[in-house]
Amino acid sequence: MQHWRLSLSDDSWKASPEADQAARALLAGDLVAIPTETVYGLAADATNPVACAKIFEAKGRPQFNPLISHLPSTEDAMSHGVFNADALKLAEAFWPGPLTLVLPKQPTSSICDLATAGLPSVALRVPSGPVMRYLSAKSGKPLAAPSANISGRISPTDAQAVADDLESSLAWLVDAGPCSVGVESTIVACLDETPRLLRPGGITREDLEQVLGKEIAGVAPQADPLAPQAPGMLTSHYAPNARVQLNAVEIPKGTALLSFGSEGLTDRANATVEINLSPSGDLVEAASKLFQSLRALDASNCETILVQKIPSEGLGEAINDRLQRAAAPRD
Ligand code: TXA
Ligand code: MG
Repeated sequence: MQHWRLSLSDDSWKASPEADQAARALLAGDLVAIPTETVYGLAADATNPVACAKIFEAKGRPQFNPLISHLPSTEDAMSHGVFNADALKLAEAFWPGPLTLVLPKQPTSSICDLATAGLPSVALRVPSGPVMRYLSAKSGKPLAAPSANISGRISPTDAQAVADDLESSLAWLVDAGPCSVGVESTIVACLDETPRLLRPGGITREDLEQVLGKEIAGVAPQADPLAPQAPGMLTSHYAPNARVQLNAVEIPKGTALLSFGSEGLTDRANATVEINLSPSGDLVEAASKLFQSLRALDASNCETILVQKIPSEGLGEAINDRLQRAAAPRD
């Protein structure tokens, strides 16, 4: 891991060779810890599913939570999310700053499925911390970044805390000293006429309501389990239309097959369509292809998607968690 210490007291850090190298590491699909005004983020190119899979691997998260994508400006954010009137008001008032907007994803957005955990919505933020904005602009990529801590630990507000948790996973640790806000961003979903507060954070409810000119709702009651809105409601993530059956060994004729590795199946040739998550048995590759592969198999209009057994160590735990949800009985 390379450690880049910089001072934000003037702009000279922008012209340093380290800025170049950190941007290049992001473009190469490596992980870079980057400070924002709220907490340090574990950043990767949000358009690169393998890079995003490395985030989940490094954090040791047993589930694929959707990630926040960071952008240099509201204009950039508009090519990834659909802004209604409320979203525009909030962006104008609080960006750059500690606010994240969950919006319908633009069909043309380059943000990958793994970054949004397969949801039709996307979480976007234009931080006031200048380093994240600068590296996003320099790399020309939206940067997916959860807090830079191992899953279950507290969010890091200085570089030492990041290094303690993630040193071995990082290409670069960008160190700009302690974060000024110190709590995560406020998350507001603007998916319909009712803006909803999904997570309290650096911007208060009162601030939000003043700008919106109306009260802000809490998390919606989950009348429709397929209408995901809130963090943690992972059961409601994208579920395929096809029935999903796990731990397949025998492959009947005419089924769709999601395979892993090159062994352990009889009659794989019976499958009408097969996608292999990773012929070489690499769990990072498998995670990076999981959501797009489920979508692609579902698009073949098959009745059943058979899934080969996937090892449960490392990222396999999150992959299996997602697959179990896709296979869970539905009403
Ligand atoms: O201040 C922050 O927000 C920091 C800095 C690095 O930007 N980031 C952060 O990320 O706290 P993370 O991954 O720890 O929290 C992101 C939250 C999660 O609770 C996730 O469920 C939610 O955002 N989220 C992301 N996309 C979502 C979506 N499409 N719908 C609902 N919730 C979403
Ligand atoms: Mg976090």
